[in-house]
Amino acid sequence: MEGKLPAGISRTTITKLVLPPDTNHLGTIFGGVILSYIDEIAAITAMKHSQEVVVTASIDTVNFLSSAKVGDILYLEGVVISTGRTSMEVYVKVETQSLKSRKKTVTTTAILTMVAVDEKGKPTPVSGVEPETEEEKKLFQNAQARKERRLRINELSKECRV
Ligand SMILES: CC(C)(COP(=O)(O)OP(=O)(O)OC[C@H]1O[C@@H](n2cnc3c(N)ncnc32)[C@H](O)[C@@H]1OP(=O)(O)O)[C@@H](O)C(=O)NCCC(=O)NCCS
Repeated sequence: MEGKLPAGISRTTITKLVLPPDTNHLGTIFGGVILSYIDEIAAITAMKHSQEVVVTASIDTVNFLSSAKVGDILYLEGVVISTGRTSMEVYVKVETQSLKSRKKTVTTTAILTMVAVDEKGKPTPVSGVEPETEEEKKLFQNAQARKERRLRINELSKECRV
């Protein structure tokens, strides 16, 4: 396993157009459509970092901050913000941009945990990550607290499984 890789290696952008089948009767995009875009970019981002196949272990901290409507352009950006032994936290930000003013508005943010797996689906080690931007450094600092919160929620959810 290499040492730490700069976050820039994984940084990924995807641009999408909001089309009528993606929207509800108000003409705004379904949350589930945004989630599938988020899952896709997170997978690509984690694959670029780990050079392995990845699976989604959890999607948490999804914030739908504002809606996007038919005809809007969506800009998605993903970056690995922290790593464990085999897992990677990926931060995804989704923005729309006004055609006239070019002003960008954040519509959704999410943090996903992706796990690198081998050909048998068994978790496999990944390199560490070196955050670069101020936003990435801030997210990196809080990674341990998020992991502990996730573990607590996982433990609680086990009690609900029948
Ligand atoms: C994710 C998965 C590979 C973990 O396998 P596992 O046998 O539990 O493996 P481990 O206990 O060794 O955990 C491996 C890593 O995953 C992390 N992990 C496991 N479950 C997790 C969860 N629910 N949320 C966040 N991280 C999780 C662990 O913390 C560990 O991270 P680390 O190595 O960085 O410390 C396995 O549960 C799986 O295949 N799940 C289904 C994934 C899937 O089908 N996703 C949807 C479609 S892609």
